[in-house]
Amino acid sequence: MTVAILIKNTQFLEKSQRLAESIKQPLVESITDDYHYYLVYSSAGLTLESNIDDGFKPLLIDFTHGKTAQRLQQASIRKEAIAKAFSLHKGKRPYILDCTAGLGRDAMLLAKLGCRVDMIERSPIVHALLADALERAREEPNTMELTKQVQLYHDDAQSYFEKHPNTHYDAIYLDPMFPEKKKCALAQKEMQLFKKLVGADLDAHLIFAACQNHYKDRLVIKRPRLAPLLAQQPSYQLSGKANRFDIYLTAS
Ligand SMILES: C[S@@+](CC[C@H](N)C(=O)[O-])C[C@H]1O[C@@H](n2cnc3c(N)ncnc32)[C@H](O)[C@@H]1O
Repeated sequence: MTVAILIKNTQFLEKSQRLAESIKQPLVESITDDYHYYLVYSSAGLTLESNIDDGFKPLLIDFTHGKTAQRLQQASIRKEAIAKAFSLHKGKRPYILDCTAGLGRDAMLLAKLGCRVDMIERSPIVHALLADALERAREEPNTMELTKQVQLYHDDAQSYFEKHPNTHYDAIYLDPMFPEKKKCALAQKEMQLFKKLVGADLDAHLIFAACQNHYKDRLVIKRPRLAPLLAQQPSYQLSGKANRFDIYLTAS
């Protein structure tokens, strides 16, 4: 899969140059058949556009307007299944490491529910889209405070644990891409593009092994409802319509 940074508007030339350098992808001024995808800056933010399929909706992460923003605004511990999975309640707001940040929706939801969240994303493109969304959210009065609770790292989760052998979080979260028909909370077309971009996370079991001594309370894994376990039998499971949370508690 080939990606280039496309300059559509020279107002964003410097930003585009910085991005091209940091993710080591070419900077181009027009669309050609040489690239499958283009990353484009506009006043709306950084967008991933497909050059190979007209049916794909351009991918832009936005925590300030639209569906995700609305979901964040309305989120409450009582309503969100993820709150139950982390056993959130008044007075319990754990410090969480999200090892599979993706589009950052779960991490931001946890932040909205009061948690402090560090997130790791290994795909340079997804990381760039998410970093840009957080930068925009930092400038909006409604989301500014929320962004202070989150920290994004560009890394692979396994190498993150190697670099931080003594790091301990209250809880760790994994939501790896499932190979087939994963129905996560993304619009279908966005999901297809996202899947093409990052592929199936077939090494997710390795994060499970790597994170073992790094959480004090629990590890939560999100899976499609009927998917096989990623590892051993969890302490308990919470199932919803499309997804399931496998929860591994530390022995107390
Ligand atoms: C299904 S998505 C996560 C969606 C996310 N929970 C959300 O709410 O948007 C999985 C993401 O994890 C990332 N990922 C998978 N394995 C990883 C690893 N070992 N280290 C860091 N990121 C990883 C993938 O690149 C992908 O962006």
